[in-house]
Amino acid sequence: MSAPRAKPKYYLTTPLYYTNGMPHIGHTYSTIVADTIRRYKRMRGFEVFMTTGADEHGVNVERSAQKAGKSPQEFSTEIAVQWKRLWDDLEIPGDEFIRTTDEKHHLTVQWLFKRCRENGFIEKGRYTGQYCVHDNAYVVDAGPGDDCPDCGRPTETVTEENYFFKLSEFQQKLLDFYAANPDFIQPESRRNEVLSFVHGGLKNLSITRTTIRWGIPVPGEAPHVFYVWFDALIGYLSAVGGPNYDERGLWPADLHIVGKEIIRFHAVYWPAFLMAADLPLPEKIWAHGWLLFDSEKMSKSRGNVVRPRPIVNALGIEPLRYYLLREIVFGQDGSFSYDALVTRYNSDLANGLGNLASRTLTMIERYFGGEIPKPAPSKGRKADVPGTAEFANEALTKVMRLYDRFSFSLALESIWEIVAMIDKYITVEKPWALAEKPEDRERLANVLYTAAEGLRIAAALAHPVLPQATQKIWNQLGQAEPLSGFQLDLLSWGQLKPGTKTGKPEGIFPRVDKSEMIARIEAMEQEQNKAPEIPPAAAASISAGPAAAAAPAIAEPAKIGIEDFAKVEMRVGQVKSAERVAGADKLLQLQVDIGDEVRQIVAGLALAYKPEELVGRKVVVVTNLQPRKLRGVESNGMIVAASAPDGAPVLAGFLEDVPVGAKLK
Ligand code: MSP
Repeated sequence: MSAPRAKPKYYLTTPLYYTNGMPHIGHTYSTIVADTIRRYKRMRGFEVFMTTGADEHGVNVERSAQKAGKSPQEFSTEIAVQWKRLWDDLEIPGDEFIRTTDEKHHLTVQWLFKRCRENGFIEKGRYTGQYCVHDNAYVVDAGPGDDCPDCGRPTETVTEENYFFKLSEFQQKLLDFYAANPDFIQPESRRNEVLSFVHGGLKNLSITRTTIRWGIPVPGEAPHVFYVWFDALIGYLSAVGGPNYDERGLWPADLHIVGKEIIRFHAVYWPAFLMAADLPLPEKIWAHGWLLFDSEKMSKSRGNVVRPRPIVNALGIEPLRYYLLREIVFGQDGSFSYDALVTRYNSDLANGLGNLASRTLTMIERYFGGEIPKPAPSKGRKADVPGTAEFANEALTKVMRLYDRFSFSLALESIWEIVAMIDKYITVEKPWALAEKPEDRERLANVLYTAAEGLRIAAALAHPVLPQATQKIWNQLGQAEPLSGFQLDLLSWGQLKPGTKTGKPEGIFPRVDKSEMIARIEAMEQEQNKAPEIPPAAAASISAGPAAAAAPAIAEPAKIGIEDFAKVEMRVGQVKSAERVAGADKLLQLQVDIGDEVRQIVAGLALAYKPEELVGRKVVVVTNLQPRKLRGVESNGMIVAASAPDGAPVLAGFLEDVPVGAKLK
């Protein structure tokens, strides 16, 4: 048994992702949600452990490997490493990345099978049915030639002698369990769906395969390998001790985060397997909705995927986290749009939290020498906005209640109400005017103390969603400890100590030009789509070890080689003409001579440069970008500019004379 803990434990998981493709933003969403819960629970005093990982077996991976001319192990390892590296780079790694090819996982699956068999829940039988290779599932009620109702692909007729799990014996046990644990399946709509499925009767489930080789062997029963779902689900247990789960005391899981399409596997099969093996059941399964793109589920087969790296490289991970959690009601489907992403960024992060932080800290520095002022009693004035403290304290309780229910969108809305309230208060009180009159010094102190305290509370509450930005604000407010270890239950209005030294105000979320940013992300995405899914560099860093190979070898975030840099062609160009683009106040349409041709380029320079200032000017042009349309105008190339702290572009140029068309190296 595990030793008693100082803190209660909280064990949560993401799905284990298939290694026949690379992550898109839908997968990233699941992991971001889990990471947010992980951070939130830490701030509520739990010892948290999060598992994510790779689901590597099955026909899909076997076939993809064959196509790539690689062994399934080699192929799958390359992809698993990419997944793990992405989660690391996005700082959402969890505590364990379990791979279903790990030896400890193989042993756990074989052990669980043995326990279920010894308890009489496994028998041998023959099965002929329609199988969907893509979903790794038999399609009940389908006949030969029918398509899979879930993914629309043709099913295949498969006959096998298999081991069957006696799922039918668990119908009543499951129904009793759901009744005794009404919160087990969330949200309500998914619970109803599962209940009606189980009420409809459960058929025994074939849990081994002889038609494929790429799977975990059933001990002593070659050529049987385990069915992928009597494999991947067990990964949640392998990650925290497997047969020795008692030693770490993390099992049962407190939460499985899954997408809605895999709720049945998690809410029906998984508890049945665990019941059959006499093991404790997870506390909760939470199924979120899908990210849609162009009104359809984002998926590789539909070709409508959005990848996370271009967004993160151009805008950052925190804006993406904020957008996904603020914009999508957790549990429901939501449409992904670049426009909404950048709009949210500018309105809520740049103009909202970021602006509040910078104006508050700048004024504290300017008027109080960088020390939190001492608030004075308000003497009947409105200086401390009657109710600010109460409002913030109530918001605290409300936000925690919303986080507890995973209502991220509403929690963020409530935090931003604090931001808006303080912002409005500053606008009404005009501290810059108060600072002019010595007799208003006390009132000025009140106003800026209130602003700083509101900012501190908002930062602490938003930390699970915006870990880095809020930590910066926290430090700038003179708070030394890491926010991740701060306990939200101890947070209340008035804890900010007057006299605390504040840090240098530093821009956190600079405003960006929407069309420029979208164009940048799309250009990066196009570039990424041209590259092979598995970059050779990743493949080279891994040895294709046996199934027993432990966790994947993870390299540092890749630096680019000179050959990558050489892919970008840059030349000296000279602007021949420039005019504004109708209906877009930031865009200029330029004709640029690049030596051997004149290119039309649309650039977001209009707020910083007048068209006539640019004519004749030498600029740096990226010449080998895919052409794209901005506001309907074709743009063939990109002008290089630095981004000033306020987001304004500053053109790159040369101090010496240089001929048009010269290449930059
Ligand atoms: N390998 C199984 C899960 C086994 S868990 C023991 C699997 N893998 S998957 O790679 O297909 O990932 C599925 C998960 O990715 C979904 O359950 C969901 O969490 C996430 N998403 C994949 N596409 C998605 C969207 N378009 N939108 C939101 N989430 C999506 O199923």
